[in-house]
This record gives sequence, structure tokens and C-alpha cells, in this order.
Amino acid sequence: MSREITGFGGCASRKSGPGAAAAAPPIASTISKVFMPGRRASAVPAWAMLRRRYMAVRARKPPPEEVPGAAAFLPERHSLTALRAAVQTCHGCTLYREATQAVFGEGAPHARVVLIGEVPGDYEDIAGKPFVGPAGRLLDEALAVAHIPRTDVYVTNAVKHFKFTRRGKKRIHDKPTRYEVAACKPWLDAELEAIDPEIVVLLGATAAQALLGPTFRVTQERGRVLETDVARWTFATVHPAAVLRAPDDELRRLAKDEFIADFELVGDYFRKLA
Ligand code: URA
Ligand code: SF4
Repeated sequence: MSREITGFGGCASRKSGPGAAAAAPPIASTISKVFMPGRRASAVPAWAMLRRRYMAVRARKPPPEEVPGAAAFLPERHSLTALRAAVQTCHGCTLYREATQAVFGEGAPHARVVLIGEVPGDYEDIAGKPFVGPAGRLLDEALAVAHIPRTDVYVTNAVKHFKFTRRGKKRIHDKPTRYEVAACKPWLDAELEAIDPEIVVLLGATAAQALLGPTFRVTQERGRVLETDVARWTFATVHPAAVLRAPDDELRRLAKDEFIADFELVGDYFRKLA
């Protein structure tokens, strides 16, 4: 099967199935368009985007006592039930201090598909469940279009505590630093070990780089199946919140089409599973 997305400068055809990795040229990034000079003003101000990037790239290296890491807080038995209880005691970095609670993954304990996001948002922090806000609704839609049943899906995040800055009454999501992502990684590793999924879908650069290293580029690797140690088949796509943040309706629609196309490819592989 091949799919062509047109009307969006530089978009490439996508191929799925064996040999797709070699054939697929890099896909133009919807998100990089957001940063293109001369475009209309974004819903998210440019300064906020730049600040986010700057904070993430330039985060000062915290003293070791601020990021001891989660390893010491993991329970002896790594069942999902034991892990879910223990994560509430984690002080592996400083994010637990301001968040309401840790948000552990949720879904079928032996799900064949695991989806990994970045960090819980405002809604998730309050609900104690991952992807219950607008990004989660887009995820549900993509799964439905791809005919991947929720009963075969487990959803989690690279970082388990909400990170935010207060602005008035609002809590604005902040991107976790690589130190926080590394500190939290034992939880994600333990979840993947307990679930042992066939398919992992990495939603955005934070999740992708947490598992595949800092040089991994979602924009180059999306739209094809990846061979990794993480699962039989790994896929990377953008974060659903990035789709929702696209600066205008047209770019949002295109970003959504690309996002859903990535999930349709996941669905094609899902149906290959015995
Ligand atoms: N964004 C994420 O990365 N995770 C959530 O759980 C919600 C929004
Ligand atoms: Fe522990 Fe992760 Fe929460 Fe940091 S974000 S305190 S490492 S669970």
C-alpha cells in the first residue's frame, strides 16, 4: 500500500510493509512548518515555543540530589499493580513536589500495543489517568480509524508527574528536561518489561528519545516500521498535542491527516499479529 499526501510542501509518499524503511524518504515535518518565518501568527505565541525549546535544550544540569532517579523507588516485584502503587512514593526527581499525583500507565496488562506520550497534562494530573484531555481524544480517534481496539492498548508517558508553570490560575505544561526523563525511565522500562508488547508507538520526541537515544528524529523516522529492542515493531509519530497546536486550521488538518496515516500503518502491522 502506498499513500500520497499532497497539498503540503515537501510531503513524501509513505509506504508500509516490508522494505518500506529503505524506500521511505524523509517526511516533511508539519511541526517544523510551525517555526517557519513568515507564517501567520501561531495560536501558541512564538516566544512560548522558543522558550519551551530553550528550556528543554539548555536546561541546567541539576545537582545529583535533585535527580537521584526512580530506580530506588521501584518495588521488588515488577507487576503492573505493584508498580502502579509504588510510583506514588517516587522522589526520583523534583516533579513530585508540585504535581497532584503520579500518573501511571493504563490499559490492558498484556496489551499488544503500548503508546508512550511525554508527560501528563493538567487534566491527567487531576484525573490520575494518562491522555484523558484533548490529546487523548485525538489518540482515541486515530486508534478507531486504525481499527486498533482499546482492549489491546496500554497508554503511558515517559515522565509520570505533571510539569508546569503557574500563570495566574492556569497551570501551563512544561517540557520535562532530559534529566527528568532519564530519572523517570526505570518506570517506563518496568512497564514495558511487565507488558511485553508486540508494538510500541512513540508519541513525540520525548518518548522517542527516551527509548531510542537523543539523536533520534521523529520527523525523519515517522511513517515506517522501526526495528528496535523495545518491541517487535516500533513506530514513532508526533505528539497528538503538537497536532492540536498547529497554527491554523489548514495546517492542523494536514497534521491530523499525517498523524492518522501513521496510525493506519500501525493498524496494518497490528493485523499481521497472530
Ligand atoms: N500529553 C501527554 O504526553 N500525556 C498525557 O497523558 C496527556 C497529554
Ligand atoms: Fe519519580 Fe518520575 Fe515523578 Fe520524577 S517524574 S518523581 S522520577 S515518578
